[in-house]
Amino acid sequence: MSEIAYVNGRYVLTSDAMVNIEDRGYQFSDGVYEVIAVANHSLVDLDPHLERLDRSLSNLNIEWPCSERVLRIILAQLLKRNRLKDGIVYLQVTRGVAPRNHAFPTAIIPSSLVISVSRAGRPSRDKFIEGVKVVTTPENRWGRPDIKSVSLLPNVLAKQFAVHNGAFETWFVDDHGAVTEGSSTNAWIVLSGQEIVTRPLGNDILAGITRMKLIELARAGNMRITERPFSLDEAMNAEEAFITSTTAFVMPVVEIDENVVGTGKPGPVTQNLLALYEDHFSQGDEK
Ligand SMILES: Cc1ncc(COP(=O)(O)O)c(C=O)c1O
Repeated sequence: MSEIAYVNGRYVLTSDAMVNIEDRGYQFSDGVYEVIAVANHSLVDLDPHLERLDRSLSNLNIEWPCSERVLRIILAQLLKRNRLKDGIVYLQVTRGVAPRNHAFPTAIIPSSLVISVSRAGRPSRDKFIEGVKVVTTPENRWGRPDIKSVSLLPNVLAKQFAVHNGAFETWFVDDHGAVTEGSSTNAWIVLSGQEIVTRPLGNDILAGITRMKLIELARAGNMRITERPFSLDEAMNAEEAFITSTTAFVMPVVEIDENVVGTGKPGPVTQNLLALYEDHFSQGDEK
């Protein structure tokens, strides 16, 4: 069954949806995106996703394609037209359509807005039960991965490196030997004394919405979170490790570059955090 997508003012079958070949997103990756989960007919953490979208757009001087109020209406419409109960919304804004030229168009052009939905489920239950493997690669992205740009080639290659090596994710490691984040996830470790460590926000990682929510939930549950860089060495010797994202939730990591983490099974702190997050997730946003 083809889903219904929203493309620059029109609701169309995804199979019929088209964009102009001179769209700057297509030609230069000149655009940004968001992936928002849908749980029980409701968009999960919509407000922080729209705030991050606003930050990405303003960092690149891309205009909003419509007002935030209208965007919320379009999103609600799309959920309704697709009768989407659980799944994912992919939202992309690009600088718009103009004759190909690296510099921004001088004429004022409307930004392009494309939104599609997917009913793809979350990772299989056994991944949460068994945990997953991570491999690593030197950090090779541009200096601003905090901007959620559609320019994802290093991330694509890193994820393929994981697939090629039978792993779930690839972690980027910076020049100081510290883990920045995964190709599409934030990275975490748990040290003795149940101290939960994740890299602080900055220009070098994406401010994950799952990361933000999990910090909130963990602190409310009196768990100890430290935001500081951690080395690959520390991660390999940690008691537990895990990754977070809108689609991976809180996914236990049991192997890093073929080194077993902790007992080689998902640990109690990670399981506790997953339970907290699942509880939050299943509530969706208040309507
Ligand atoms: C590079 C990167 N880091 C982290 C994340 C996790 O972000 P979120 O929790 O908002 O899904 C993503 C998600 O796509 C990502 O691409």
